[in-house]
Amino acid sequence: MQFIRFSDLCSSGQATGKRVFIRADLNVPQDDAGKITEDTRIRASIPCIEMALKAGAAVMVTSHLGRPTEGEFKPEDSLAPVAARMSELLGKPVKLVSNWVDGVAVNPGEVVLLENCRVNKGEKKNAPELAQKMAQLCDIFVHDAFGTAHRAEASTYGIAQFAKIASAGPLLAAEMDAIGKALANPKRPLVAIVAGSKVSTKLTILQALSAKVDGLIVGGGIANTFMLAAGLKIGKSLAEPDLLSDAKAVIEAMKARGAAVPIPVDVVCAKTFAADAPATVKAATDVADDDLILDIGPKTAAILADQLKAAGTIVWNGPIGVFEFDAFAGGTKTIAKAIADSSAFSIAGGGDTLAAIAKYGIEKEVSYISTGGGAFLEVLEGKTLPAFEILAKRAG
Ligand code: 3PG
Repeated sequence: MQFIRFSDLCSSGQATGKRVFIRADLNVPQDDAGKITEDTRIRASIPCIEMALKAGAAVMVTSHLGRPTEGEFKPEDSLAPVAARMSELLGKPVKLVSNWVDGVAVNPGEVVLLENCRVNKGEKKNAPELAQKMAQLCDIFVHDAFGTAHRAEASTYGIAQFAKIASAGPLLAAEMDAIGKALANPKRPLVAIVAGSKVSTKLTILQALSAKVDGLIVGGGIANTFMLAAGLKIGKSLAEPDLLSDAKAVIEAMKARGAAVPIPVDVVCAKTFAADAPATVKAATDVADDDLILDIGPKTAAILADQLKAAGTIVWNGPIGVFEFDAFAGGTKTIAKAIADSSAFSIAGGGDTLAAIAKYGIEKEVSYISTGGGAFLEVLEGKTLPAFEILAKRAG
């Protein structure tokens, strides 16, 4: 996909002295006191801001934070904690500007953070009047918010329609390049891990991937539904029996291409869903009526680990078992370590997946960790995200 890269605008001098508007995704988790608990997205926004500053631009950055009510700014909606962290990371002041839609004072070499853009009326529905006003604030619009690339809002889509120049920031470009490497032109075998509680929330991803991947590893409640589809008993484990025919169709689609959805040969069960519930390893054929499957067993984990080590490309979304409880974390840990040990190009995304990556300390071994939650899932579904559609259009 063709788009204007902000890095090219900077290196060719086109950003020098210009007003640059960067849409970042600084939607970070906070505790009840408003303290940022995880700052990956802020750190990921820094290279674009530094690139703009180095080019001598006057830099405006904005983001949404949470899902506030438009026109009703509340203290908890404020990007103030983000401005403070950004200032620490940049080593320079970052002024927070409120009520910015009608004009922003900023000089070349300075950076200002524009208060939560989702409080502006018309943001969510991509109101053209709002998008036009935002576009008038700048000479160059930079979309660097991959986490929000699946939304067509005024600060992500409308502004890109109306700005003099609309470009992709380095984070957005890197995400695009990594996803392209994993899905458009993958080194084979391509193995995807799709796990989570429900097939229903990831059915379209499973269907899309079943036409593409060489191995489709399922985990969590999704694996239970696939076990049912394969004729196994799953006791009182979480599953969606009404989606059995969809699970069977995915298995058949894979088979028809000479590929497979590996079904667990052993599992870890408990009688209750609790961290201290006694864990029992059982053959997949021995699950009792009152069992809850909370993880894959060690034999299954070893089989999947071998498959991952031999892969050319790995796409990972979702932990395999209830990894928050140590007794049921073995499957996720083995998979994480296998990805770390594999020479495959690996890409991972989604909140729980990132938590598992952090728990097992394999951040450096995963080739690319996406900052996208919902956006990453939509890419796996094979959708063209609005951000890329409009940036491609504006590059034409
Ligand atoms: C996310 O956290 O996935 C992004 O920031 C998008 O947030 P949203 O789902 O509220 O649009």
